[in-house]
Amino acid sequence: MNMYDIIYKKREGHALDKEEIEFFIKGYTDGRIPDYQASALLMAIFFQKMNKDETIALTRAMMATGEVADLSAIRGVKVDKHSTGGVGDKTTLIVGSLAASCGVPVAKMSGRGLGFTGGTIDKMESIPGLRTTLKSEEFISLVNKVGLSVIGQTAQTATADKKLYALRDVTATVDDISLITSSIMSKKLVSDSDAIVLDVKFGNGAFMDSFEDACRLGELMVEIGKDEGKNTVAIITDMNQPLGYAVGNSIEIIEAIETLKGKGPKDITELSLTLAAHMIFVGEKAASPEEGLKKAKQALENGKALSKLAEFIEGQGGDPKVINKYSLFPQPSCISKIYSHEDGFIGSIEAKTIGLASQHSGAGRVTKEDSIDLAAGILLNKKVGDTVQARELLATVYGNDHIRVDKAALEAAGAFNIQSSKPQSNVLVKRVIQ
Ligand code: URA
Repeated sequence: MNMYDIIYKKREGHALDKEEIEFFIKGYTDGRIPDYQASALLMAIFFQKMNKDETIALTRAMMATGEVADLSAIRGVKVDKHSTGGVGDKTTLIVGSLAASCGVPVAKMSGRGLGFTGGTIDKMESIPGLRTTLKSEEFISLVNKVGLSVIGQTAQTATADKKLYALRDVTATVDDISLITSSIMSKKLVSDSDAIVLDVKFGNGAFMDSFEDACRLGELMVEIGKDEGKNTVAIITDMNQPLGYAVGNSIEIIEAIETLKGKGPKDITELSLTLAAHMIFVGEKAASPEEGLKKAKQALENGKALSKLAEFIEGQGGDPKVINKYSLFPQPSCISKIYSHEDGFIGSIEAKTIGLASQHSGAGRVTKEDSIDLAAGILLNKKVGDTVQARELLATVYGNDHIRVDKAALEAAGAFNIQSSKPQSNVLVKRVIQ
């Protein structure tokens, strides 16, 4: 077997067999197959697609390159949650706190920002002192004690995905259903949770543009999860404008805290409650998602979820005083404001453009080696459907590098489309696949 034949076979549109897929994944992970051949195969997969059997074989081969975490010492039905990536998506800490405060143990491994989408681990590191790398005993003991712990992916888990994702990111091969499925599910299945809730996004700020493709992605991930004995649910959600108002790192954590105080944006609150409702249901702390929703709402209203967040921050070495003192977060030294040139309604806000502008302001990495500016990002002042007047504020860009902040502001200004009539409002949670 050799890589040239495998690339050629896929290029000609034939299905690869399990042995060929394993040969590629093992060889690439071990460093025997070079990036240029792996890139060629990824592009062939992107254009010719993989069928279901190939996708399952790819997921299993990727799983086999990582150690399966042993979370058996965690009491209860452990629930994991994963988003396919969006702009302004700060739901992890909100839903983790909601679910944990309702008795569901959440042991989560999260990722860093990628391309125009942010990453939970980068955002969490804006909390002073908070550690995102924990020894496995500490991780397990925190989940048993607090109910929630979130750490970064270790080198031992999902080894193949770590290398492949970085390669896909620079070879324009991220947005393929089979590649996304295998990337997400290979990580989720080795993380040893009993149930998985997936937030599958579609729209211009997601890797899947259309609702139909997001449904196909969700259906495939649910099927693979169930085949591996995990109760898996996919929620298909709209990502055509940034979620909430904040896009960045510390500003997203502040918005997450505000949401747990009951003062969050409508969309973030709705999405978080929906995801938490399903986590509470699959975590067997509610008899139905509807009852899960009731419990999640109660935890939000009675402040239990906010207290859970404080416990979580403290448990991971962070300063829980940030919850009431936002000045403890890293502060920006540069600000640039974006104003409207006309009267009208906000017809759309291109999420991807905002995500890229936030990344360029310093909030994300342009190359893998970049360090990030935790204070950088974009705070919207308007959402789709709002009225706007000429010279009214549309958004503020933050950061610590004047040139980057000003350039990001110019870029972000292009994301706003203003029109004379009120646009139709989109449904945020479009479908649940169980
Ligand atoms: N998130 C992942 O972990 N992998 C993908 O391929 C896309 C989103």
